[in-house]
Amino acid sequence: MRRFEGRVAYVLGGGSDGPARPGEALPMGNGRAIALRLAAEGAHVVVGDKDLDRARLTVEHLQTPGLAVAVDAADPEQCAAAVAQAEEFGDGRLDVVVCNVGISGRQPLKVQSLEDWELADAVNVRSHWLTAQAALEGMTCRGRGAFVFVGSTAGVFSSRRSLSYEATKAAQLGVMRHVAARYADRGLRSNAVVLGNIDSALVRREFGDAGGARGSVVPMCREGTPEEVAGAVAFLASDDAGYVTGQSLLVDGGVSAAWPSPPRPSSEEGIAR
Ligand SMILES: NC(=O)c1ccc[n+]([C@@H]2O[C@H](COP(=O)([O-])OP(=O)(O)OC[C@H]3O[C@@H](n4cnc5c(N)ncnc54)[C@H](O)[C@@H]3O)[C@@H](O)[C@H]2O)c1
Repeated sequence: MRRFEGRVAYVLGGGSDGPARPGEALPMGNGRAIALRLAAEGAHVVVGDKDLDRARLTVEHLQTPGLAVAVDAADPEQCAAAVAQAEEFGDGRLDVVVCNVGISGRQPLKVQSLEDWELADAVNVRSHWLTAQAALEGMTCRGRGAFVFVGSTAGVFSSRRSLSYEATKAAQLGVMRHVAARYADRGLRSNAVVLGNIDSALVRREFGDAGGARGSVVPMCREGTPEEVAGAVAFLASDDAGYVTGQSLLVDGGVSAAWPSPPRPSSEEGIAR
C-alpha cells in the first residue's frame, strides 16, 4: 500500500527512548514505528523529538526523504516552530500530523505534585493543541489534513497509577474531538488511537522486560507492538478513513471489551496508594 505517496507527515515524539527488543538493534517506540510506517507507504516524514539524535536515528531508517527536528514539547514556541519547519520541508504542504509525544508519571492523588501535573499537561495536552493550532491555517487553506493523537486507555478508564497521566490523556481526547467537530467542514479530520499495553522501548525502560506478565492480563494474552499501533494510526491518517473523524480507536488487545478489569500487574507494587 502506498496511501501517502506525495504527502508530508509530521510526527511529534518520533524518536524512541529505551532498550530494543531482544534480537533487534533499533529500539522501537510508537512514534518511531509510526514514522517508519508512514514513510513505507510513501510519505515524506518530519520527525520531532526533544532528543535530536533519537529523531535522527528514526530518519536514518525511513524509506523516503525525511527531516529530524529538535522540539521540546513542553516549550510552546518550539511546538509552533517545529510545525513551521515541517511545512517548509514540505514546500508548504503538511498532510498528516501525529501527536504521539506523551509522558507518564506515577503519582496517585495522595502524592500528586504540582510540578508533575504541570509537566504532564504541557507535554500530553498543551503541546498537542499548540501543534494542531500551528498546522491549522495551512491545512484549512489547502482544504485537507488529518490529525492523529496517540492516547491511552488511562484516559478512558483509570489505571489507578497516575492522576496527571489519566487526566491529561482524557483531556487530549477532548482536544481531538474539538478539532474534529470544529473543522470537519474545512476538510480536516481528527482522530485518536487509544492504546492499551504496548511493548514500546519506553515501557521496557520503565517497567523492564516483563512483557509476558503485562500481556497476561490482556484478553489476547500478549502486549501489542508499536508496529500494530502504527498500522492503526496509518489507517486513521489515510483516505481509507475518509469518513471517520472525532473517533477514538481502541488498540488494546480486548482489554476494554472485558469485565471485570484485570488485576494490577506486579510492576505496580510499591506505588503510593
Ligand atoms: N507504550 C505503551 O504501553 C503506551 C500505552 C498507552 C499510551 N502510550 C502512548 O504512546 C505514546 C508514545 O509512547 P511510547 O511508549 O511509544 O514512547 P516512545 O518511545 O515512542 O516515545 C518516547 C519519545 O518521546 C520523546 N519525548 C519525551 N518527552 C518529550 C518532549 N518533552 N518533547 C519532545 N519529545 C519528547 C522521547 O525523547 C522519546 O524519543 C505516548 O503518548 C504514550 O502516552 C503508550
